[in-house]
Order: sequence, then structure tokens, then C-alpha cells
Amino acid sequence: MTIQWFPGHMTKARRQIEEKLKLIDVVIELLDARIPLSSRNPMVDEILKGKPRLVLLNKNDLADPQVTAEWVKYFADQGLPALPIDAANGTHVKEILPRVKQLWAHKIETMLRKGINPRAIRALIVGIPNVGKSTLINQLAGKKIAATGDKPGVTKGQQWIKVGTEMDLLDTPGILWPKFEDQMVGMRLAATGAIKEELLHLDDVALFTIKYMVQHYGAGIQERFGVQELPEDMDNIQEMVKVMEAIGRKRGAIVSGGKVDLDKASLIIIRDLRAGKMGRISLERPF
Ligand code: G4P
Repeated sequence: MTIQWFPGHMTKARRQIEEKLKLIDVVIELLDARIPLSSRNPMVDEILKGKPRLVLLNKNDLADPQVTAEWVKYFADQGLPALPIDAANGTHVKEILPRVKQLWAHKIETMLRKGINPRAIRALIVGIPNVGKSTLINQLAGKKIAATGDKPGVTKGQQWIKVGTEMDLLDTPGILWPKFEDQMVGMRLAATGAIKEELLHLDDVALFTIKYMVQHYGAGIQERFGVQELPEDMDNIQEMVKVMEAIGRKRGAIVSGGKVDLDKASLIIIRDLRAGKMGRISLERPF
């Protein structure tokens, strides 16, 4: 199924961000550590036009730490400092301000040389819906400011949020969409919960997840769900369905007659993945 992507959305978001950029010193780009490129707005480099930028790989509590380390290197190679964080628990959130200050240090030095007292750094947080912007803002501000769980279509009031005396924050104006006209990107977004699962067929998303896991986390699946043998051919749907059935059986998704309810199994697979019950899983790799 193809998800419609309207260029008009992008034009609007772009205009809204460009209006604010004049006021901004540093941009904080929030990505999902499990799918950094798929959770990225496709035009972000163009929109931000060389503003100093810190990439944050959020939800790192759910991501594979080894893969996250590869992503940090990937972004560093592109000249973008990247910091893995877990906004929900506040892990590494305290490192954000020093990293932002590093990006702005040359300006602060210039101001000090001229005898000007440096003002608070103005940072803009950009990220697609559900990546954790509100959660992060609340953590940084040390209080509940942004309503978490805001869904696309709900207009958020624009306000500067103080992070101590050294940084003022602004949330993404408007909605910055991911590149979900790409099927694989859509699958990754649905599997991680960035887009509603109803937008894609649940069993397709579960199948995509299982295929990826068999390929990269095979031993984990065997151990956790008692799957004896893993299929060698990822494109053999029947073999993949057998893995889904094994998981469904293990998790009690059985209908009368002892058959596995595949819809239920699909939902269990996706919910377990999102909740981190299958371990720390990344669904995208840099190389
Ligand atoms: P947004 O403003 O970018 O749209 O995202 P928001 O902060 O609302 O976060 C979206 C969901 O992601 C929330 O879950 C939030 O708790 C969760 N989240 C944010 N950061 C992290 C993180 O670092 N780790 C994990 N595991 N989850 C994170 P929700 O299901 O909408 O609500 P709830 O689970 O908090 O009830």
C-alpha cells in the first residue's frame, strides 16, 4: 500500500521553519536511533542551510548499541556531531547543552572579545512527529511544557522555552514529515510506531520486522521464541510465516483448533518490538 505524500505539506513546513531560522543559532535535529535516516525529513539539509547542527539519536534505549555507534560514526563522517540519548529517561540529556555550546563557542568568544555579554543560545528542535520532541523539551526544561503525544494536525503554540540561563529552545514550527512515499521507509516508520500501523497492513509490517530480525538478530529470535531453524531464503514467505507462527504460538495467539491467529501474532510482534521486549533492535544500518 502506498501512503500518499503531498509536496504541499513540505512546502508549508519549509516556509514555517525558514521564518524561524533567522532567529536561530543552532539546530538540534532529533532522529530515532533505531531508524536514523528513515526518521529524517528528506529536505532537512536544504532547509537548514548550513546552520550549526547537533544530531540526537533518541530512543537509544530501544536501539542496538553497536549499530548506534556505527550511526554516530556515519554522522561524524558527514561533519555532524551525533549524540545518542533516551529522552524518556533523561539518559545523556545533560550532555546536550555542553555540545550545543561547543557548536556556538566561536560566536561566544567573539562576543566576549568585543566586551559583549553573550546572550542565551537560541536552539531550534526539528524532528518528525513522534520522534520525542515534546519529551525532550520537557526533560531539558525540567518541567512539563510541551504536551507529549501530540499528533499531527494539532497546532502547538510557539513559545521559547528556557533551559537554565544559557539556552532558549523552540520546537519545530508546523509538522516536518518523513519521506514516507518510500515503501521501506514506511515499513520502518510503522514498525517503530512513528506512523499509525493502520496506514499499512499490519501483517506486512510484522513480516518486514521478522525478515529483518531473522537476518540480523537470528540467534535472539531462536532463543526467545524457541524457533528451531531459521529460514535461509528471506523471500520465502511460507518460511517467514512459519517463524511468525512460532512466535504467535509462544505468545499465546492461538485460535480454536490450535491454529495461530496471524493477525494477533503480527500485533504482538510489533508491540513487543516497540516496547523493547525483543531486546534492543535497530531496523536500519548505515552501511
Ligand atoms: P513528538 O513531540 O516528537 O511528537 O514526540 P513525543 O515526545 O510525544 O514522544 C512520542 C512517544 O515516544 C511517546 O510515547 C514518548 O513517551 C516516547 N518517547 C520519547 N522519547 C523516548 C525515548 O527516549 N525512549 C522511549 N522508549 N520512548 C520515548 P507515547 O506512547 O505517545 O506515550 P507514553 O508511552 O509516554 O505514554
